[in-house]
Amino acid sequence: MGAEPETLVDVCSAEELATAGRQVVAGPHGEIVVFWNDGRPTALANVCLHKERRLSDGFLLKGRIVCPGHQWSFDIESGFCKERDKHQPRYDVQLVDGRVGVVAESLSAPSGMGPVGAPDGAADRRRAARLTPGAPPAGG
Ligand code: FES
Repeated sequence: MGAEPETLVDVCSAEELATAGRQVVAGPHGEIVVFWNDGRPTALANVCLHKERRLSDGFLLKGRIVCPGHQWSFDIESGFCKERDKHQPRYDVQLVDGRVGVVAESLSAPSGMGPVGAPDGAADRRRAARLTPGAPPAGG
């Protein structure tokens, strides 16, 4: 018997993400920014760990998202900022049948964030069929 497939919380279609380049959705611990990178999705917490600017407003450069606040740059796969030796929380995300989804388990404990308690109502939100869109990135 194989492992159970992971439960995914739908974000959008791969086509939508490939066209837009990034998509912001609301997660139980704040906004999540999902990027399209080299034909597959990746996801990070959208609020910068430094001074809380939105990474979705930054620019992508060679696989790194450069924060508009103070130009720290994070690998969009791992969330690692090598200049500061810090990790932006990241989420597990998958592409299945043309749809992009965040792994439900990852919503409650994104890697790099450490153990977190689920806020009130988080369990219900995790069971939602689809993440709700957040505010669009500035400048598209
Ligand atoms: S707020 Fe992101 S680098 Fe300062």
